Amino acid sequence: MVVVGNQWGDEGKGKVVDWLTEQAQGVVRFQGGHNAGHTLVINGHKTALQLIPSGIMRPGVACFIGNGVVVDPEHLMLEIGRLEAAGVEVRGRLRISESCPLVLPSHVALDLARESSRESRGLGKIGTTGKGIGPAYEDKVARRALRLQDLKHPQRLRDKLRETLDLHNFMLRAYLHAAEVEFEPTLQRLLELAETVVPLLADVGHLIHLGHGRGDRLLFEGAQGTLLDIDHGTYPFVTSSNCVAGNAAAGSGVGPGYLHYVLGITKAYTTRVGSGPFPSELPIDEPGSVGHHLHTVGQERGTVTGRPRRCGWLDAAALKRANIINATTGQCITKLDVLDGLAEIRVCVGYTLDGRDVDILPLDGDDIARCVPRYESLPGWSASTAGLTRWAQLPLAARSYLERIAELSGTPIAMVSTGPDREHTIVLQHPFEG
Ligand code: GDP
Ligand code: IMO
Ligand code: MG
Repeated sequence: MVVVGNQWGDEGKGKVVDWLTEQAQGVVRFQGGHNAGHTLVINGHKTALQLIPSGIMRPGVACFIGNGVVVDPEHLMLEIGRLEAAGVEVRGRLRISESCPLVLPSHVALDLARESSRESRGLGKIGTTGKGIGPAYEDKVARRALRLQDLKHPQRLRDKLRETLDLHNFMLRAYLHAAEVEFEPTLQRLLELAETVVPLLADVGHLIHLGHGRGDRLLFEGAQGTLLDIDHGTYPFVTSSNCVAGNAAAGSGVGPGYLHYVLGITKAYTTRVGSGPFPSELPIDEPGSVGHHLHTVGQERGTVTGRPRRCGWLDAAALKRANIINATTGQCITKLDVLDGLAEIRVCVGYTLDGRDVDILPLDGDDIARCVPRYESLPGWSASTAGLTRWAQLPLAARSYLERIAELSGTPIAMVSTGPDREHTIVLQHPFEG
């Protein structure tokens, strides 16, 4: 089963993947890097994951990082160290594809310097997480990336690093007027890290194939969200990988026949971190306003960068696009409880663009920026839905809202999340039985 974000990320993918691991044997990350921030809450205890798959908190579940993920080995060891310090067994059940491209300190320097340069040239920042993700994917596509497998060959590592750093430093110095990254300390640190990283490397595609043959249930865990996808998102305000369900195959080393069900994670409203168009956005600063409610009650602040997340009403016209791109089988609507107490709930059902009505998110970012949302109004509910575990317990107005989302976005609701904890979950049609 593939679990992907249906909006601009932070839909609650980590929570849902962790919940689903009760019935799964493995979790596979297939794209992105440590720009992701997935928060799991288990019996009130919070764990934040960035690179490690959200299966790690369930003992016995195998965790895989596929070839589509870019890996910063420094961050990887930090995250493993944090989990181990909290008593979680990691190394025995984490396997990483040796084909993963590396994220180097010079990628971080390039990412940050590019953002400053865009700003000073009046282009506006993308608002990246500053983790070097974009530059690392650029090197992969340009066929000059260092890959984890290079850590096994010190001489090859030295040669490739020299070549790559020469280019990075040229760009940093001559074009971006930023500080260079030194070769020798970078190499020495990679050689040190290699000792702990190399034992985790494996042929992930083949391991998934073997698990599949044994009848294992595997979860392919997306990072970011459909509208941040490099091809299908609000370009250029996107991340640098394909976040859509179709990439679960290419990014993990198996074919689409291994995927079966696609679960789209949809927040009951919309949020976005970083720049870029967002038609149903509301101001979040004014106390008493809906935007302020979503921001504060939803605790909408980025896990990776701590930036406030922009907030707005649910955009069903954007969801319609996401459900087509992902061929979503069922949706899990998360953070329903955040809407408790709102008198009225609005859903964006389409837009007016240059005087015409449009009922699906346009493809051109400049068009999206000119879209004026058209809203449908639904009654809110005053009762609390926080922590509910059964559909029948939900207020009638909440059920009507969920049913309307399914209708407008073209995909049935399989699950509803009513709180951050693993247990705060309602199942309508279990995705493993769908
Ligand atoms: P991800 O990147 O898609 O995994 O999502 P994040 O973890 O970045 O953001 C989702 C946030 O909402 C996290 O802090 C979760 O603990 C929290 N969360 C997830 N589901 C729910 C829910 O149903 N209700 C509430 N109130 N919080 C939730
Ligand atoms: P999860 O997996 C939300 C956004 C950044 C920026 C853009 C490009 O937690 O949902 P990048 O560093 O990737 O080059 O930044 O993408 N972004 C995310 N927004 N959730 C994420 O991950 C994100 N990962 C990247 O804010 O707008
Ligand atoms: Mg997140």
